[in-house]
Amino acid sequence: MNMKISHFLVAAAALLVCNSGAYPDSAHKAQHFTRSDQLHSSYDYIIVGGGTSGLTVADRLTESGKYSVLVIEYGYFSDIPGEPYDPVNPINTAPPSLMYNITSVGAVKQFVGVGCVVGGGSAINTQVWMRGTSEDYDRWAAVGAQHSTWNWDGILPYFKKSCTFYPPDPQLAAEFEITYDIEKAWGGTGPIFASYAHYQYPATKVMYDGWKVIPGIEYPKDGSEGKAGIFWVPSSEDPRTETRSYARTAHYDRVQNRTNYSIVTGYKVIKINFSQKHGDITATSVKITARNDNSSVGTITARKEIILAAGTIHTPQILQLSGIGPKSVLKAARIPLVLDLPGVGSNLQDHSWFAMGYDLQTPILPNRQSLTSNKTFADWALDLWKTNLTGPYSIVGGGGALAQVSLPVIAPEMFSSIASEIEAQDPASSLPDSEDPTVVAGYHAQLKVMAAAARSNNTAWMQMGLGGNPFGSADQWGFNIHPLSRGTVHLDPTNPDGEPLVDYRMLSNPIDLRVAIGLFKGLRTYFKSQGEMKKLSPVETKPGANVTSDADIGAFLAATLNPSEYHPVGTCPKMPLAMGGVVDEELTVHGVQRLSIVDASIMPLTVGATTQSTVYAIAEKAADLIKREFAKV
Ligand SMILES: Cc1cc2nc3c(=O)[nH]c(=O)nc-3n(C[C@H](O)[C@H](O)[C@H](O)COP(=O)(O)OP(=O)(O)OC[C@H]3O[C@@H](n4cnc5c(N)ncnc54)[C@H](O)[C@@H]3O)c2cc1C
Ligand SMILES: *[C@@H]1O[C@H](CO)[C@@H](O)[C@H](O)[C@H]1NC(C)=O
Ligand SMILES: *[C@@H]1O[C@H](CO)[C@@H](O)[C@H](O)[C@H]1NC(C)=O
Ligand SMILES: *[C@@H]1O[C@H](CO)[C@@H](O)[C@H](O)[C@H]1NC(C)=O
Ligand SMILES: *[C@@H]1O[C@H](CO)[C@@H](O)[C@H](O)[C@H]1NC(C)=O
Ligand SMILES: *[C@@H]1O[C@H](CO)[C@@H](O)[C@H](O)[C@H]1NC(C)=O
Ligand SMILES: *[C@@H]1O[C@H](CO)[C@@H](O)[C@H](O)[C@H]1NC(C)=O
Ligand SMILES: *[C@@H]1O[C@H](CO)[C@@H](O)[C@H](O)[C@H]1NC(C)=O
Ligand SMILES: *[C@@H]1O[C@H](CO)[C@@H](O)[C@H](O)[C@H]1NC(C)=O
Ligand SMILES: *[C@@H]1O[C@H](CO)[C@@H](O)[C@H](O)[C@H]1NC(C)=O
Repeated sequence: MNMKISHFLVAAAALLVCNSGAYPDSAHKAQHFTRSDQLHSSYDYIIVGGGTSGLTVADRLTESGKYSVLVIEYGYFSDIPGEPYDPVNPINTAPPSLMYNITSVGAVKQFVGVGCVVGGGSAINTQVWMRGTSEDYDRWAAVGAQHSTWNWDGILPYFKKSCTFYPPDPQLAAEFEITYDIEKAWGGTGPIFASYAHYQYPATKVMYDGWKVIPGIEYPKDGSEGKAGIFWVPSSEDPRTETRSYARTAHYDRVQNRTNYSIVTGYKVIKINFSQKHGDITATSVKITARNDNSSVGTITARKEIILAAGTIHTPQILQLSGIGPKSVLKAARIPLVLDLPGVGSNLQDHSWFAMGYDLQTPILPNRQSLTSNKTFADWALDLWKTNLTGPYSIVGGGGALAQVSLPVIAPEMFSSIASEIEAQDPASSLPDSEDPTVVAGYHAQLKVMAAAARSNNTAWMQMGLGGNPFGSADQWGFNIHPLSRGTVHLDPTNPDGEPLVDYRMLSNPIDLRVAIGLFKGLRTYFKSQGEMKKLSPVETKPGANVTSDADIGAFLAATLNPSEYHPVGTCPKMPLAMGGVVDEELTVHGVQRLSIVDASIMPLTVGATTQSTVYAIAEKAADLIKREFAKV
């Protein structure tokens, strides 16, 4: 299967060879196992999923040397396609061997991109390193319990802790207005590296400056200080080696000396086992089965806690397989009910996007095509890369500028009526039929804060990459980064052990189409604007200048919108139980002891940003919560 990942800041990656061979076990190394009979029968903590969040938490819990941790990962240790990427080809072919094979159900059939490898999504993603605005996180507290610390002030320290920031080269920074604010946004020494490319193409600056004539637009000093606007973002790239910095390198390879840090690969958790005494439900052990030998099974006990980090698609599946979820879903799949928890698998959100075609008729040279069309340039670029790890080949997926624009600025004529429509909407009308009243109540609370967001200049609602295709005839992508539609992840009643049914339910809330029309018109205004954009002489080729009425634009968008930027979140939301929540403020599953969730599924509302750095911050904060909890025991 050839998977096209139409991502906005994209790079082409070679397919790679899957290396499932075992690491040599050694007394001085973290233990890597490939067979269940090599494992102990119990560990202090069991972490389900060795992806972005799972390895981060495993690292932090083994730091003190006081606890033993076992990570269970379905994927293998595999080499990841390295640099140089092919910056000419704007299609990133993510390695199918390192991903799950899931196609969404419902109106839109879409490949569901999820990493299956040690490192999870962070091993195969496009490396954009950014945060949402402060309001994105303040809304998490607003729909949370009283005195929630899951707001901007409560998560910023963990954003800082998670990474080490490297400023851009001074000369490049001056030329391209790459500004940053170490005090407000960075300053940590965490093991993920955030760094900038050592080169940029001149047309990216034209597209960056083009926004200056759009009324209300801002250019914050650093987008990572919680602001909307136009800015440059770093990538999760180790500047010392110009290689990917990700959960495996940062939170496993770096700390391999820890004998209490164990990982078993090629195994899947298929069930959590509970003890039930006096009405208390306590998670005790997990049942695992081997990927390539389903007769190899095992049960491993957690002395302290089981931590779910299997991601937005698989964490709700594991809960449902274990008897925790909406009772109708469990009944259909013939899973014995342990606890009716209606929110499990509800509230799925992703960023949706549309493509407009533009012919940028005045090329500004050099551009990415120069790497194939101009031998002098290409030789220079390759030489710089080989001798110095700089030049055009140091541009990886996320090394560019972004437009992160609020609804009042991108859709000045529509934002106010959109906000009123959100306020007036019956929350049950766009959720699945006979949705549980608690889930409806939670969604109602979400709509209230999103109505305010629609009127705010500091919630970015539209995302556009400015370094994506600044040449020739190309697609220009606009992303709706705050969709109101909510999807589901439920067991397949005909095959509960297979992949779950992922239904994005795109446009199930009709206001999302109105928003998309607003974003589309705003982007058209930008491309037609009379500032710097004139230098590129853009001519719209798709859908074309004759498509002007809201009805015609809406028809184009309804037919072409894509539900996913590979940023699924929200299926086990951190919200109160009475609001359809699955985890509490400590990230413990409501109604269950010694079971917590630390991955992207806990976001109650998605953030207006690519999701990885938020996942790392959640995991850093989760590790502190988990450590504090058991320090008391
Ligand atoms: C192609 C792609 C491009 C992306 N681009 C960007 C980007 O440029 N910037 C950005 O910020 N974000 C990006 N993202 C999103 C980001 O990578 C994810 O949000 C993040 O990695 C999710 O982390 P997680 O810990 O929730 O889950 P994951 O990292 O997916 O980890 C879950 C792990 O659990 C394992 N697992 C699942 N089920 C089981 C089970 N039953 N038993 C054992 N193990 C199991 C999986 O194999 C996986 O390794 C991208 C994602 C993809 C897929
Ligand atoms: C490993 O963890 C145990 C607790 O399970 C602890 O007693 C021991 O000191 C740890 N050992 C090391 C080397 O970290
Ligand atoms: C998905 O399919 C590819 C083949 O295209 C395969 O290599 C990979 O192992 C599959 N992923 C999973 C999780 O089974
Ligand atoms: C938000 O931006 C719009 C459009 O530029 C402007 O009219 C409005 O005054 C701004 N609102 C605030 C609160 O800054
Ligand atoms: C980890 O082990 C390596 C060699 O195996 C050694 O060089 C290094 O100093 C060790 N680090 C720590 C922190 O013990
Ligand atoms: C599951 O838990 C119950 C109750 O503690 C116990 O009797 C049973 O043996 C456990 N099953 C497994 C497979 O560990
Ligand atoms: C286990 O694997 C065998 C052989 O691949 C297959 O026939 C069988 O259906 C599998 N069983 C389960 C429970 O998946
Ligand atoms: C090719 O690249 C070189 C070096 O960047 C540049 O000087 C030259 O003008 C380019 N030639 C063309 C035809 O663009
Ligand atoms: C090599 O890289 C260094 C560090 O990025 C930079 O300062 C220097 O200018 C580069 N040399 C060349 C010849 O580009
Ligand atoms: C716009 O023009 C194209 C090409 O002529 C045509 O296919 C399309 O139907 C037109 N759309 C509208 C809304 O008029």
